[in-house]
Amino acid sequence: MHATDVPIPEDSVLSGNRFVRACLRKPVDRTPVWFLRQAGRYMQEYRDVRKHHTLVEICKQPELAAEVTITAAEKLGVDAAIIFADLLLPLEPMGLPFEFQAGEGPVVHHPVRTAADIAALRIDRAADLAYVARAIEKVAAHFRDRLGIIGFCGAPYTLASYMIEGGGSRNYVHTKRLMYRDPISWSALLDKLIAVLTEYCRLQVQAGADVIQIFDSWIGSLSLSDFNDYAFAASKRLVRAVQDLGVPVIYFGVETTGLLPAMASTGADVIGLDWRQPLDEGWRAVGSAHAVQGNLDPISLFAPLDVLERRVQQILRAAAGRPGHIFNLGHGIVPETPVENVQAVVKMVRDFRLEKLGDA
Ligand code: CP3
Repeated sequence: MHATDVPIPEDSVLSGNRFVRACLRKPVDRTPVWFLRQAGRYMQEYRDVRKHHTLVEICKQPELAAEVTITAAEKLGVDAAIIFADLLLPLEPMGLPFEFQAGEGPVVHHPVRTAADIAALRIDRAADLAYVARAIEKVAAHFRDRLGIIGFCGAPYTLASYMIEGGGSRNYVHTKRLMYRDPISWSALLDKLIAVLTEYCRLQVQAGADVIQIFDSWIGSLSLSDFNDYAFAASKRLVRAVQDLGVPVIYFGVETTGLLPAMASTGADVIGLDWRQPLDEGWRAVGSAHAVQGNLDPISLFAPLDVLERRVQQILRAAAGRPGHIFNLGHGIVPETPVENVQAVVKMVRDFRLEKLGDA
């Protein structure tokens, strides 16, 4: 019980979780912080689990997925825990098996290339993904209200690109060819993805996810015109469908400098910024009706601590204490990153005071 037994008023900066409050642009006692890919190969504890299990095995065993999620969040001292899962998991119940091949990333064995391939995709088996919900339940039971619990899914464009390319891609030729030449099949594919992803997010929210992050990691491969003509409507429908489940949505992409106002028009509560643009410029492009998340270059975690601290403080000063900033990286932590530097960033964010505004 709280020391004085006096209930914390609804509008106090202490009511609720500071990460969730920041997503809703409510004032907070200090800037919340978490990291994209905070559970991963840079962490010894994760590598130890990976010695005995494949990535997909960890995802499918709620006990293991929860353990990996909780260990990373506690080791770093962050304000939110993102459930350990992978963007591609929904492909399997849609009828597209895939595997992670060492050094090559994901490989989809029979990529989607034709109208018939799209027609064959199933949308009735999202419940097969319930193992992710079971893991979220365990994480939520562990942290209760201490940390925000983040569920996630891929955005329609980014998942479609994996289905069509059969893996990662440099130029997205297959994806864009299908999109331009067969817009009817393209939108049928996005419709199917929206149906499955909405059900998948419903399972996650029912299990205790406080916030859903939608990863449109490769949306930066589209021009603004193509984003508007071929991806925006689907992203917006998914954002709205997830918000209708009763949680705030973070919409994140990489190389999005020219896309930010359009991404904000989806109505997402929070826009994830990559590191290429100063945070205040990105926030201006997004507009003050949205919170922002970001945007330290993940590779700056390899810099000496004084350089790293300068970058962290620049971001916090650019945010200027306005409600609605969540500190994060501009993309995921890479495998060789020193864990102690990630921990040091958490401390820098915790210790930062805006009085430092006048400093150099
Ligand atoms: O801590 C967390 O962030 C949660 C776990 C998480 C994973 N994947 C586990 C994972 C999350 C949020 C993802 C999302 C994901 N997966 C994205 C979107 C995020 C982004 O980076 O933009 C994408 C594009 C994927 C697809 C994916 N998964 C790729 C391209 C790869 C291979 C990349 C590589 O570095 O090898 C993965 C594998 C993967 N997913 C790993 C982890 C921890 C590393 C591989 C491993 O453990 O074997």
